[in-house]
Amino acid sequence: MNIAVLVSGRGSNLQAIIDSIESGFLKAKISVVISDKEDAYALIRAAKHGINAIFVDPRKLGSKELYEIEILKALKANCCELILLAGYMRIIGKTLLGQYKGRILNIHPALLPAFAGLNAQKQAIDHGVKVAGCTVHFVDDTLDSGPIILQRCVDVKEDDTDETLADRILEQEHKIYPEAVKLVVENRLRMEGRKVKIIK
Ligand code: GAR
Repeated sequence: MNIAVLVSGRGSNLQAIIDSIESGFLKAKISVVISDKEDAYALIRAAKHGINAIFVDPRKLGSKELYEIEILKALKANCCELILLAGYMRIIGKTLLGQYKGRILNIHPALLPAFAGLNAQKQAIDHGVKVAGCTVHFVDDTLDSGPIILQRCVDVKEDDTDETLADRILEQEHKIYPEAVKLVVENRLRMEGRKVKIIK
């Protein structure tokens, strides 16, 4: 399966997907990495592994629709069947969703539906929860609300800061994202309403 990974920054989740493919855990190919930030370290990670990596400048394209049309061109040119959002800090619009409905995944650093949106780990600390975690879900037209594929819990410690909690959640993100992608690639997910059933 040809995969596109959309990124905005550091790219550690991209790295986890690359490593899973290179180790043979995931039978898929990243055919393109697309960033909305020119200086995203994720672009360098991709290049180090010989993966086609491009920057699409949203500011040059005037509107969200034109920007997503440009992304669609890159996706089609690289025969992408699945899109992974990996620290991609933009809301997916109608243009991309219309063409890739049910084929876009996101990783979010919270146990959704709690703490959607930005700074999820800080939201968790500020709220005083005892358990935090991460979620891989399908993307739909509402922010961080699509059907949930996998989640993993992380205990919150009394002396946790936003950063220490984010680090421990990130370790779990790097495990569940490749696991969730593997389920999609192996066609082991079935939808029942908004519930995602895993075929053993
Ligand atoms: C990750 O923690 C990811 O879950 C989060 O951004 C970080 C990206 O790190 N994504 C979101 O908050 C999306 N709402 P990475 O660039 O090292 O993968």
